[in-house]
Amino acid sequence: MCGIVGYVGDQNATPIVLNGLRRLEYRGYDSAGIAVLSNGNVEVRREAGKLSKLESLVQNQPIQGTIGIGHTRWATHGEPTARNAHPHIGNTGKVVVVHNGIVENYLELKADLEAEGVEFHTETDTEVIVHLIEQFLSQEEPLEEAVRKALKYLKGAHGIVVLSTMAPDTIIAARIGNAGGVVIGLGDGENFIASDIPAILDHTRRMLFLESHQMAVVSKSSIQIQSLDGKKVHLEEHNIGWDPIAAEKGEYRHFMQKEIHEQVRSLTDTLAGRVDFDDGRIHLPQLNLSPELAGRIKKIILTACGTAAHAGMVGKILLERIARIPAQLEIASEFRYEDPIVDSDTVVLAISQSGETADTLAAMEEGRKRGAVLWSIVNAIGSQAMRVADGYISMQSGPEIGVASTKAFSAPLVDLYMLAVLLADLRGVINERQRHQLVSDLRLVPDLVGKCLDREKDVLQAAREMRYIRNILYLGRGIQMPIAHEGALKLKEISYIHAESYPAGEMKHGPIALIDRDMPVLALAPRDQWYEKMISQIEQARARGGNVIVVATEGDQRAAELADHVFWVPETPWLLSPVVTVIPLQMFAYHIAALKGLDVDQPRNLAKSVTVE
Ligand code: G6P
Repeated sequence: MCGIVGYVGDQNATPIVLNGLRRLEYRGYDSAGIAVLSNGNVEVRREAGKLSKLESLVQNQPIQGTIGIGHTRWATHGEPTARNAHPHIGNTGKVVVVHNGIVENYLELKADLEAEGVEFHTETDTEVIVHLIEQFLSQEEPLEEAVRKALKYLKGAHGIVVLSTMAPDTIIAARIGNAGGVVIGLGDGENFIASDIPAILDHTRRMLFLESHQMAVVSKSSIQIQSLDGKKVHLEEHNIGWDPIAAEKGEYRHFMQKEIHEQVRSLTDTLAGRVDFDDGRIHLPQLNLSPELAGRIKKIILTACGTAAHAGMVGKILLERIARIPAQLEIASEFRYEDPIVDSDTVVLAISQSGETADTLAAMEEGRKRGAVLWSIVNAIGSQAMRVADGYISMQSGPEIGVASTKAFSAPLVDLYMLAVLLADLRGVINERQRHQLVSDLRLVPDLVGKCLDREKDVLQAAREMRYIRNILYLGRGIQMPIAHEGALKLKEISYIHAESYPAGEMKHGPIALIDRDMPVLALAPRDQWYEKMISQIEQARARGGNVIVVATEGDQRAAELADHVFWVPETPWLLSPVVTVIPLQMFAYHIAALKGLDVDQPRNLAKSVTVE
């Protein structure tokens, strides 16, 4: 999710690389850096914070050369400091690397390299790449071969760009899997490399897109594409006519739609490096969770705002059901005024995409004052909610631009599940067989989410028919109740339609009076322990003339017969089902708002990050 730019030609690389990084700026990042070959040496400048800070640094300590690479970082491992910013330089000073992705096995690789005497200087996963390349260079391999060999050691998905004094006229770029693209821009006597089209669109519209397991050796006058096993490959040239922002959205009309579709990848990333499917174990090292701490926790208070609070409601169920620890969700804006019962055996667990929401931070402070253990689940590494916590889990969702949160909702659901399994294991409340089962179910998640996304056409059809509704009631039970809240919130936020969410069992105590032909009902009824009860609620709504949408498990004929529209979801283990059932609700809200021509990514009166009380 980071940004990459590279240049080789006759011009000064520095302004071209910096301007390219600026084109990616609106996506958000936390630090930036540049490396240029200058008089046979690698010169690196790196800075935390905004690009303007890097620009001032470069102004004070200029670098000039005709070949260079740059990077904007969205931190995943290690805080967003200048030291952790890319490019990373090796110990011989001959190689620099910028990287997009997560080296899932970096701890193992780091231990091996350290055992061979390699010194590390950052907390990043990326640093192992540069040291690996240098190891092969020291065995007299040519750069191309050294890069190829190093890449074979990396687990995960990556976009990697390498610059070296050992091959001073070329930049090497490689792509493994789907960690964002690698684009080569074709110029006249110069060539460009980027993670995203807008970064180089000022210079060229002729582009090649590396596919997975391909590597490009780029000089100012030639581009060689090869597979990672060294075979020559031909890539078709594309002529790009988009404007920069449209280019960043790719095939999508809005960032929200793009982010909904990115969930297969963001969920894969949040599992990466944390789940060992072979031995059925969860690893969350940044949480600093000792067996002693796990054993003494008496209560977990989840606290958050908005969408993150809905993730917390699911978390309460997961922590109680899997780990058997009493848990409660407290809305962050209320928590500090409640005189909460908290002691040193209580964990206050904050959930926040931005990590900067004022109410959430105040709730954490309240927890700290009362002596609680503070944890956070955050997307923005280095944010306040991460810094003040005793331990954290990073969502690994990448920058989220649409104000209505989507991928930063599904990731914490998986993170909370992993946390619950880890706690259950450490407290001895699950046996080995149960642990293996719970862990292996996680493997299914990205694929199941992909199956929901494939059903977008059904959701679009329902949105077309229902876009003029004025009200709607979302119903759920059990673990689907928070999803009913989240679906209703999504619709309110971006389509401005009044949507209410209710536990289905409460209908008879009042809200059923609302139902008539003008009050459609959206019911979450996957096949789980609440299924029969949900079906009877749907029947009651139907009997009163309400138009009904049902979120149902594939093949459920009963639900299909009762519904005007069905949003099918694949069969999913029930503790993970919220990750799946929320997907059609996100798409439904999106399509209604888009069909109405509303400003989907920046809805009225709302802000992405609310830093005031
Ligand atoms: C704002 C946003 C919501 C978000 C909430 C919490 O209200 O509009 O989409 O859920 O803040 O944000 P956080 O960054 O703490 O997750």
